[in-house]
Amino acid sequence: MNRIFSGVQPTGNLHLGNYLGAIRNWVGLQAEYDCIYCIVDLHAITVWQNPAELRAQTREVAAAFLAAGIDGRKHIIFNQSRVPGHAQLAWICNCVARLGWLNRMTQFKEKAGKDRENASVGLYAYPNLMAADILLYKATHVPVGEDQKQHLELARDIAQKFNADFGVELFPLPEPLIFGPATRVMSLRDGTKKMSKSDASDYSRINMTDDADAVALKIRKAKTDPQPLPGPECLGPDGKVAPEAMAARPEAFNLLGIYAALADKDLNTVIGEFAGKEFSVFKQVLTDLAVATLGKIGGEMKRLMADPAEIDAILKDGAERARAKSAPILAEVEEAVGFLRV
Ligand code: TYM
Repeated sequence: MNRIFSGVQPTGNLHLGNYLGAIRNWVGLQAEYDCIYCIVDLHAITVWQNPAELRAQTREVAAAFLAAGIDGRKHIIFNQSRVPGHAQLAWICNCVARLGWLNRMTQFKEKAGKDRENASVGLYAYPNLMAADILLYKATHVPVGEDQKQHLELARDIAQKFNADFGVELFPLPEPLIFGPATRVMSLRDGTKKMSKSDASDYSRINMTDDADAVALKIRKAKTDPQPLPGPECLGPDGKVAPEAMAARPEAFNLLGIYAALADKDLNTVIGEFAGKEFSVFKQVLTDLAVATLGKIGGEMKRLMADPAEIDAILKDGAERARAKSAPILAEVEEAVGFLRV
């Protein structure tokens, strides 16, 4: 059976982008794949995390996975630091990846900003740890949002170079699964910026734990433009929204994409449905749908977080099974590298 690995950082403020771009897609993949879903706390500490908050946020991400519909008993949910193989294989990946490859990573440039000298070494090596996460289980498919595409290409390069350097066919080349109408959810305040956990403005994102009033307020305040909603004239000859149309009205298409994803419809159907309507009408429908969907998940998250014992038991069991699954693969890697395993 093909195997899935994917992860979310426990860095606070899980938002609609994380849900629609990743977690929601993961739920549907459980029927067809053997799934491993990880809360990547080792990745989180590449930038400063308050220790008490890190623990709480780790449980919160686990609660989000469970509340969204991931089966933590049939599949695996665990936090990365509980399986030492991630850090062990990451070191080997550090020695396979080339500096030139990492220098091309746009996410490092964005996150390190102007003060690059002061960024942690972990932040720079972040994509190597991500490659290790995937390769440690010989995962074949990795469902993520659009922003992780470059990191996945690097994971494939590392897998390929490892196999070539050591003359083995050990790692499969992991395939990205980037699908659905919301692979890149944008900020509600600026349709050219990605919705992100770290945006200073809470109005830029809808958090998975926002209550109905907060969701309604954020959608009401979401930036739009003065024209009515676009219709099928915005589609190019390939049937997709023409790039010029998208660039001219990023906020409108972002909200339409969010609606399509929440309603489980394709974007063109939604464009047809709301063509020529006023934003005020559309925003009300969007609010109702967002509240109905997120309300259920947020409520279940709060229930789970009120009794962390249930979450902790699932994480503990998941980590045990993840260690068992990864141990023979790590042994194979060590054999290939030439470590004396006495
Ligand atoms: P993270 O925690 O930033 O995001 C978790 C998932 O959410 C997706 N995502 C979005 N999708 C659509 N629109 C957005 N605005 C948006 N923001 C975030 C991300 O693409 C991701 O799928 N490096 C990863 C975590 C990771 C990982 C891995 C993923 C660590 N190891 C191995 C896959 C495989 C990250 O920072 O995700």
